[in-house]
Amino acid sequence: MESKVVVITGASGGIGAALAVKLGAEGHSLVLAARREKELKAVAEKAGPRAIAVVTNVTKRKDVERLRDAALKKFGHVDVWVNNAGRGIGKNVMELTDEDLDEMIRVNVKSALYGMQAIVPHFQQRGKGHLINVSSFLGRVPMAAFRSAYNAAKSAVNALTANLRMDLRKDYPGIHVSLVMPGVVSTDFARNVLGNAQPPAAGIPARSPMVIQSAEEVAGLIAGLIEKPAPELYTNPASHEMAQRYYRDVGAYEAEGH
Ligand SMILES: NC(=O)c1ccc[n+]([C@@H]2O[C@H](COP(=O)([O-])OP(=O)(O)OC[C@H]3O[C@@H](n4cnc5c(N)ncnc54)[C@H](OP(=O)(O)O)[C@@H]3O)[C@@H](O)[C@H]2O)c1
Repeated sequence: MESKVVVITGASGGIGAALAVKLGAEGHSLVLAARREKELKAVAEKAGPRAIAVVTNVTKRKDVERLRDAALKKFGHVDVWVNNAGRGIGKNVMELTDEDLDEMIRVNVKSALYGMQAIVPHFQQRGKGHLINVSSFLGRVPMAAFRSAYNAAKSAVNALTANLRMDLRKDYPGIHVSLVMPGVVSTDFARNVLGNAQPPAAGIPARSPMVIQSAEEVAGLIAGLIEKPAPELYTNPASHEMAQRYYRDVGAYEAEGH
């Protein structure tokens, strides 16, 4: 397989770290970003000799631009950029403050926008590249009410991703734009939420076909997407059918207790 230069945000833990280790083992060059330096450097070490760590706060546009510049300085070009950093919330709609909503937009939406705006001009210059935004199944089917503003933010990520793809389709057929929508993944995500932390399975009704996936399983699927780009990827096999059922009849779906 061709060796690629891949930038991954949110690589100090969870899905991003698992993806880094997987791609590193496959011989890719990696530029890993997150705020926690010690954890990030440990992942870079595990990912192999062609991985560098760049401490980055993705809610700051200047940091994201610095991340791009560090990748270009080290490797000369970027093939794949994965906007993976994100954060959940554990508050229902009526509990949300202005600051809660702002934080969800900053860390989930603006971060992805900064990444897209930083790297797409480079892809356009090269006539090729792959932008991957890690969203959530909850951005398509907002079935966990306690994730409220997170669901809203990921819906925004879904829309921006689709619109960027539409913008580039005609003039830049060599640039791929992908949306990844994981279901429930066993990481520190549920512990790191703003507001009330809940166990990962809290949003899954007893009868739901949604099973908890490991970060490694999801990383393997994203690695497959890098090899064979597609517009969208549901990481959980149950998601596609659940989304179809939801959009066929929202009222009936909600009444089922999802
Ligand atoms: N786990 C799930 O069930 C699940 C389901 C659907 C979608 N997702 C999505 O998958 C992605 C990865 O989540 P995860 O499960 O791996 O969560 P996680 O274990 O909490 O990891 C989140 C990562 O994002 C980084 N991050 C958070 N805020 C950041 C900031 N301001 N600047 C830079 N990095 C930041 C964290 O690093 P630092 O703290 O070191 O900055 C960490 O590396 C997220 O976009 C999440 O919404 C997760």
